[in-house]
Amino acid sequence: MPKDTDAHHGPQHVAIIMDGNGRWATQRGRPRLFGHHAGARRVREIVRACPDEGVKYLTIFAFSTENWKRTQTEVAGLMALFRRYIEREARALLDEGVRVRFIGDRMKLDDKLVSLMDNLELLTSENNKVHLTIALNYGGRDEVTRAAQRLAVEIEQGRLTHKDVDAETLSKFLDTQFLPDPDLVIRTSGEARISNFLLWQSAYAEYEFVDTLWPDFSAAEFSKVLAGYGGRERRFGAVLA
Ligand code: IPE
Ligand code: IPE
Ligand code: MG
Repeated sequence: MPKDTDAHHGPQHVAIIMDGNGRWATQRGRPRLFGHHAGARRVREIVRACPDEGVKYLTIFAFSTENWKRTQTEVAGLMALFRRYIEREARALLDEGVRVRFIGDRMKLDDKLVSLMDNLELLTSENNKVHLTIALNYGGRDEVTRAAQRLAVEIEQGRLTHKDVDAETLSKFLDTQFLPDPDLVIRTSGEARISNFLLWQSAYAEYEFVDTLWPDFSAAEFSKVLAGYGGRERRFGAVLA
């Protein structure tokens, strides 16, 4: 049963920096990829928890534009994991009413993965219970840069002029054009930094940094973090009476 009262005060859009997979595996004497696989199982649990928590939009950071700097083994293992995740989860996501979309630059991703991403977006495009956005090869600076380039093309070709360039127009050129801004950004693993995630969109987001490593982040803990958010006063720069 949806918790109506909580849902009312709770965040509509939650974004998560899923961090700590590598350390989780290392603590167990296992390769880092073992942690990534454990992390993927938590994604399933957290997505399923969203309807009851009143979370309509969930955006998760899966791979950053900087993560290419990792070893070839880890990068290749992660790419294989993304392909497998999409293949295995597509049916359940469709049946559970989840609409999936991806943000980030697809140009550097391999064709097979991109076609799986495209197909999953299409397959779930009629769903509307939960909007799951997966940030894959995503970086906030890269996103704003690509948006600026596309805006420049519009101007060059005479469809827009420099006077059209305001925050609202720029937002429409971002990968997140279909999303409301996040209300709450959660980062696991004890690191208190943004690491290039949703830089523009999080201007007024609340942040919650939890020590738990991502593979240990349960639906119960997610619920606790959301409950904590309900008590916060967001001022958006104004003085509230
Ligand atoms: C987050 O976990 C997942 C990705 C960045 C792909 P990490 O792999 O960053 O784990 P730690 O931070 O090294 O523990
Ligand atoms: C951020 O985590 C990216 C993802 C969770 C996908 P990182 O582990 O890559 O960030 P840093 O390197 O600690 O800043
Ligand atoms: Mg990390």
